[in-house]
This record gives sequence, C-alpha cells and structure tokens, in this order.
Amino acid sequence: MNPLFSTSKAAVMTISLSGFMGSGKSSVGKELQKLLSCPLTDLDEAIEQREGKSVPEIFADCGEEYFRKTELSVLEGIFRSEAEENPEADGAQVRILSLGGGTLMTPECAAIIKEHTLNFYLKASIDTLAENLKDISGNRPLLKGKDLRGRIEELMAERESVYEAAADHTIATDGLGYGEIASKIMEISGLG
Ligand code: S3P
Repeated sequence: MNPLFSTSKAAVMTISLSGFMGSGKSSVGKELQKLLSCPLTDLDEAIEQREGKSVPEIFADCGEEYFRKTELSVLEGIFRSEAEENPEADGAQVRILSLGGGTLMTPECAAIIKEHTLNFYLKASIDTLAENLKDISGNRPLLKGKDLRGRIEELMAERESVYEAAADHTIATDGLGYGEIASKIMEISGLG
C-alpha cells in the first residue's frame, strides 16, 4: 500500500459512486447515508468548501486544469489521515464517497479509488442523462452552452471505458429510483 495513505479498506469500507453528470451519484449517496446512518462525502462539495467557491466559479476563475488538480488534492486528503481530515468518519464501519463525473479521468484519482474503495458505477443511458441534465446543465461548466445530447455522447465516448475499468460493480440505473439503487448497492456490499 502507498505509505501516503494510512487507511486500508479493512479499517473503514468506503463505497464510492461514479458515473456521468446527472447519473444520480449525489442523490444515491444521500439515500445510502440515510439508510446506513453513515458519513457521506460529496467530492464536489468538499472541493467547494476547500476553495470557498462553487464548482462553476472555480472553472470560470481558474480553469479546468486547476479544478482537476484540486480534485486530486482533496481526494488524497480524504485518504491521507482519517483522524485529522475526516473526524466524522472516526469509528465508522462504512462511509460513502460520491465522485464528480470527471474524477476518474485523472489517472491518479482512478488509482486512489481503485485501491481504497469499493466502486459502483451508476450507468445510465444517454436518454436518461439528457433528461436528468436538461434543467441543470447550465450549472455544469463542461456542458453549458453546448448541444446537450451531442456533448453527452462526446464525453461518454471518452469516459465509458474509464468508468467500467474502475468499477467493482456496475449498476444499470435506468428506470430505478434512487432508493432502489441504494438498496442494490447495500445488497451487493453485504450491508442489506
Ligand atoms: C464534472 C462533473 C461535475 C463537477 C464538474 C466536472 C465532469 O460533478 O465535478 O462540473 O467533468 O463530469 P457531477 O458529476 O456531480 O455533476
């Protein structure tokens, strides 16, 4: 194990949620937090807290490269020292980590997630993603002002294999509610 990371999977099981923007990572994370009464870290929110700005503001002020570096740094911090950086996770058996849609595209982030978490890829069809994103794409810097469907297809072509490669389990989410997805994750993880 990389000595930078003192936490092993055995100490606290981290269930990480990946998938494209609009796939329901944050909402499923909240469901799991409720059902398991366990800590939840939303990576985008953790980045916003560190920077004191929203994700769109970080992209606008500092660019995507800076956002990706910050994303990696915050992710490293989550696994560096449980006691110092995540006091709320102290003593917990399980915790949830919802990722950003592009987190795994940084190879160092993908390596951390593969080594330290049980990863679930929330796989949604282009139709479902387009529907889920139609009212909120203005809040996603990589989608804003673009033809939504075309842009989803373009990014998915780059990302799908990366999501699949990092996943311990893939859940086809079309037609499922967030609670149903959370239940499936609990069952597969042996927490149901
Ligand atoms: C991004 C997804 C966003 C956020 C940022 C970049 C991406 O998170 O991290 O806008 O590259 O797919 P969500 O997947 O939670 O929307």
